[in-house]
Amino acid sequence: MKSDVAIAINNLTVSYRQRPVLRSITAKIPAGKLLAILGPNGAGKSTLVKAILGLIPKDSGEILVLGESDVKKFRTRIAYIPQKEQIDWDFPVIVRDVVAMGRYHARGWFAWLSADDRRLIEQAMQEVGISDFADKHIRLLSGGQQQRVFIARALVQQSDILFMDEPFVGVDATTQNAIFVLIEKLKAAGKTIIMINHDLSILKKFDRLMLINKGLIAMGAPEEVYTEANLQKTYGGQMTIVDQAETTLWQAKL
Ligand SMILES: Nc1ncnc2c1ncn2[C@@H]1O[C@H](COP(=O)(O)OP(=O)(O)O)[C@@H](O)[C@H]1O
Ligand SMILES: [Mg+2]
Repeated sequence: MKSDVAIAINNLTVSYRQRPVLRSITAKIPAGKLLAILGPNGAGKSTLVKAILGLIPKDSGEILVLGESDVKKFRTRIAYIPQKEQIDWDFPVIVRDVVAMGRYHARGWFAWLSADDRRLIEQAMQEVGISDFADKHIRLLSGGQQQRVFIARALVQQSDILFMDEPFVGVDATTQNAIFVLIEKLKAAGKTIIMINHDLSILKKFDRLMLINKGLIAMGAPEEVYTEANLQKTYGGQMTIVDQAETTLWQAKL
């Protein structure tokens, strides 16, 4: 039977230079759903994702991804679109090469790409609407187009879990909608999508919310979790007037 849990996190603590950033997080991330990770700047959202991906060491706790604790066993089954500022935009690479990396990731770095692989790469670029820029340097694209390149890379990887770290920063509304259309398709194919998200006005689109601020504040369906009390605990004084107005509006719409 296919498990309904994509990622099981048990008592996870992570520190940078002995300063704990994530404290005793325990959570089960359901398979086949779209999850948003929310929290203020510095809450440890990106750190949580990196810990799950095995990119940074943990102090204690366990993480099972698709039932496996060994990163080597699940690495090819997860795709990761990092936060924009962590990408080296000067790296000399054209759009098609970035997308092709997803195929290498799936097949192993020393594999030759087959004609089928090449077709998959062209198809994915078509699907996200970047075929016209295939031979351009990635730096020359707009924020929204760059984000689509990384989505195409994730598509060709054909992973079971997709992580996106704040994909909507510097992205136009058209791309944002296009991303949600793609996400619906991926979900229909049984994929799990985990998105760190800053925009409180689009939370209705998510199946589950995870609120964190160093520790786990709450996790569950949006209508259960998105309460004044939980937001206060998560954001404290850091919530802006705009966020608060949006919260009120959003709750009124539920
Ligand atoms: N490589 C690092 N070395 C030291 N401290 C870090 C490093 N990366 C992040 N931090 C610190 O850890 C905390 C959590 O960071 P991060 O996970 O990036 O937060 P978020 O993504 O929620 O904004 C912050 O205080 C940040 O300054
Ligand atoms: Mg971050």
